[in-house]
Amino acid sequence: MEYLEKFIDFNKTELLIFDCDGTLMDTVWAHYKAWNDTYSLLGCVFVSNQEFVDTYAGTSGDELVKVLNHQLNYCLDVKKAIALKDEIFVKNYINKVKPFEKTLNIIKKYYGVLPLIVASGGETEVIRKMLAINNLTKYFVDIITINDVKLGKPEPDLFLEAAIRHKVAPENCLVFEDSEAGFQAARNANMKFIDIDKFEGKSFINEINGSIKSDSFIEYKIYELRNAFSTHSNIMFDKIFKEINAVFLILDSGLSKEQIYMINNFFDKFKIKYNSIIFESGEENKNITNVIKLITILDDFGVQRRSQPIVAIGGGVLTDLAGFVASIYRRGIPCIKIPTTLMGYIDASIGIKTGINFNQNKNRIGSFASPLCCILDSTFLRTLPDRELINGVGEIIKLGVIKNKYLFELLENHGVTSITDKFQNLLGRDILNISINDMIEELKYNFLELDLERIVDFGHTFSLVIEMSDDENLLHGEAVAVDILISSIIAFNRNLISISELSRIKELIKKFGLPISTKLSANKLYNSLQERVLHRDGYQRVPLPNGIGNHVFVNDINIDEISLALKNLNTFNRE
Ligand SMILES: NC(=O)c1ccc[n+]([C@@H]2O[C@H](COP(=O)([O-])OP(=O)(O)OC[C@H]3O[C@@H](n4cnc5c(N)ncnc54)[C@H](O)[C@@H]3O)[C@@H](O)[C@H]2O)c1
Repeated sequence: MEYLEKFIDFNKTELLIFDCDGTLMDTVWAHYKAWNDTYSLLGCVFVSNQEFVDTYAGTSGDELVKVLNHQLNYCLDVKKAIALKDEIFVKNYINKVKPFEKTLNIIKKYYGVLPLIVASGGETEVIRKMLAINNLTKYFVDIITINDVKLGKPEPDLFLEAAIRHKVAPENCLVFEDSEAGFQAARNANMKFIDIDKFEGKSFINEINGSIKSDSFIEYKIYELRNAFSTHSNIMFDKIFKEINAVFLILDSGLSKEQIYMINNFFDKFKIKYNSIIFESGEENKNITNVIKLITILDDFGVQRRSQPIVAIGGGVLTDLAGFVASIYRRGIPCIKIPTTLMGYIDASIGIKTGINFNQNKNRIGSFASPLCCILDSTFLRTLPDRELINGVGEIIKLGVIKNKYLFELLENHGVTSITDKFQNLLGRDILNISINDMIEELKYNFLELDLERIVDFGHTFSLVIEMSDDENLLHGEAVAVDILISSIIAFNRNLISISELSRIKELIKKFGLPISTKLSANKLYNSLQERVLHRDGYQRVPLPNGIGNHVFVNDINIDEISLALKNLNTFNRE
């Protein structure tokens, strides 16, 4: 479990503090039920499960009852309500709660290495009982609860009490938490903290010439190797192909003769056997018919199951489709992805999503499948037409607006010359590296999309119908640009961004010649949003900019708001 060492500077960390409910123990559901039972026994209606999870998980019982008394005009006796709730919790639910596996793994790993403490907003008796039932008491040198301090989270008292009792400076404590109240308490205590929900890791994606590293339970390598296929260099052979005797090459029809010659030459030189096919690229070919065709070809060639990886060299369509075939053929064969378009380079090839379009829907069929590795060679971009480069820029603008102001400014100042130079100059390569880093940072804790609030979905709410519409005839990144603008107008109408920030976003999109309007109606865009609600499991979860470089998620965009944004877009474009 060396992954935690990335977060812990062992020279400076002296105490590990674990929140209990939601971090160590899977109790939120049980607390909700116990509160719900309590409130109904007292003749009051309690909040919904969702509201409890979103707003009150991590809040002390004392605070919760007081807030609800105030908000819902109840006059429950705080102490009595808490006592009743604890009684119900202990009687009906405590035997059923279990620890979270991943937290337990951390605890077992660091037990005996560092002192471990539980600091919880719960009552002493309840917390102790829960730990005892699950045989966890032995791991902790101390258990601090709300009964030991004056104020619960988000006040820092619980964590500071731990630091004082064990004579450790707050900055040398590391807190494991799951709720915003807990994070705030750690901040208030001047302690480092880890959001346990985003902490999935067991191992690394490692290496990109040392510049990109990432944590997750998914493991594969990403290499940045310029001129990877040059026969003057052994780097790619030594790093990747040394142990591989044969490969199955799938080459993008957009590659030049010289590029294909160079690729073949590489495998000839290093005496690696290869079969190859040219895949006719284009979104219309990302379909089930071509999946079957490819599987038939693999069968006819007699590809070896483990030792002859597919090497997919091409745009996002090719790497998505080849990755999908690799993930289902014989229940999964290895695949190496080498993107040759900007979209592939900064997005499509570096994650673990594969897919094909189906029934007029983008990526309706697909899988999560990590490649054997991904090789990033930006010299392929030299032959990419400008429209395809600009298409990829749509995704980079997305990252700039929603996550990284510095990237946004880099695009404002050097984006257009980077297109002219096909991203071969230093600033262009900076833009690529920052984008990949940002993208990996977003993917690495959430490869399987267990958390459906993803900021990389910015620009991907309305773009689905825009991209699939025959009226518009837009590429993926072009449709994303239109969506970015519509979403930014919605953000502006909600006072999340200023008029000057909105203008900067529009000007940046315009600067690249990306589209800034749509012929689609508000109804069609709303349908796209509804489809996203299905995809995002019942909630809109739309990321909107909150100033340039920051975000919020919203769940309440309605059709009137979309109509207004479209109207604003037209006026805005006439100005
Ligand atoms: N899996 C993911 O996470 C993910 C993320 C983003 C996008 N995507 C998918 O990626 C696809 C879009 O990818 P794309 O924009 O690369 O499109 P694409 O694969 O269709 O490639 C665009 C065009 O460029 C040509 N081409 C490829 N390499 C070239 C080169 N070096 N020189 C000249 N021409 C070249 C191709 O033949 C094609 O005509 C979409 O289907 C989208 O859904 C997937």
